Amino acid sequence: MLSVYVSSPDPENPLDALEVGDRPDPDPPEGWVTVDVKAASLNHHDIWSLRGVGLGEEQMPMILGCDAAGIDADGNEVIVHAVISDESWRGDETLDPKRSLLSEKHQGTLAERVAVPARNLVPKPAGLSFEQAACMPTAWLTAYRMLFVTGDLAPGQTVLVQGATGGVASAAIKLGAAAGLRVWVTSRTEEKRERGLGLGAAAAFEPGARLPERVDAVLETVGEATWGHSLRSLKPGGKLVVSGATSGMNPPAELPRIFFLQLKILGSTMGSRDELERLIRFCAEHDVEPEIDRVLPLADAAEGFAAMEAGELVGKVVFAV
Ligand SMILES: NC(=O)c1ccc[n+]([C@@H]2O[C@H](COP(=O)([O-])OP(=O)(O)OC[C@H]3O[C@@H](n4cnc5c(N)ncnc54)[C@H](OP(=O)(O)O)[C@@H]3O)[C@@H](O)[C@H]2O)c1
Repeated sequence: MLSVYVSSPDPENPLDALEVGDRPDPDPPEGWVTVDVKAASLNHHDIWSLRGVGLGEEQMPMILGCDAAGIDADGNEVIVHAVISDESWRGDETLDPKRSLLSEKHQGTLAERVAVPARNLVPKPAGLSFEQAACMPTAWLTAYRMLFVTGDLAPGQTVLVQGATGGVASAAIKLGAAAGLRVWVTSRTEEKRERGLGLGAAAAFEPGARLPERVDAVLETVGEATWGHSLRSLKPGGKLVVSGATSGMNPPAELPRIFFLQLKILGSTMGSRDELERLIRFCAEHDVEPEIDRVLPLADAAEGFAAMEAGELVGKVVFAV
């Protein structure tokens, strides 16, 4: 089957490690099912995989991709929850020490078919297209958990989202605005700041700008480049919710600011299957749709990866399969 995969990661030039070609069909073990993928979306995780992050030689070749929407063997339209917990695990799958994301231990979604545990399927509502549904399991679920579960934010509060146009950032703007939060963003270009406002942000600032007032929470996926600004932007007792570090993993800790202002640093990763169902319901109830930058055939995956690596995207890249 046609697949997008990695067999020799390249930490310096990840795009050079991208391969598009034939891989064997899945052979699902007991309790797993095969989904015919209709749409799959790209995440920064796939670029990390091309760099070799989290992938050992024994896992190669690995089909990339965490997110998919498609049709199961019974003809049901489904969305795939990307967090694979151990069969014996009960409760929040992200807390299982043995959990992995699709494309880490098990072959991923950027292919014509993917095998997943039957418990990882969530019904796709008819109102959501396959392309839109394929945006939900990683970027959108991560933004949902950061805002409403880990961040525990309430309508009327102000949240700063670092970055406006990425997959997680664009989802956080749309979800936060729909839930009655005042969403502020930073973004690296004037054009992208405008796009952030178009997505629902109440104000958009240059990276590092002094804000009109301090905020209740900051959503951080950028890491080193924005970490200091995130800490400086918080009210005493404010929350820094962090799920990623695209620009670098080792920001200055700024410990005095953290303890004098009693800031809360909260790690957040993906979301549970229950949260994915709630996210989908929330989007249906509030007419919230993912921002999709472009839809490409799987065979043209390289174009989408290059645009993400160059920071050109506004919203998600979706591959139609
Ligand atoms: N822990 C988890 O469960 C989880 C889940 C999803 C994602 N993540 C992580 O979160 C990060 C974002 O993922 P994504 O899929 O949303 O990626 P993406 O679509 O490539 O978005 C990158 C974002 O970073 C912003 N950014 C600002 N300054 C940057 C800089 N100096 N260098 C690079 N980017 C900069 C961009 O904002 P502007 O272009 O608007 O300035 C954009 O919003 C990744 O590191 C990913 O691994 C973690």
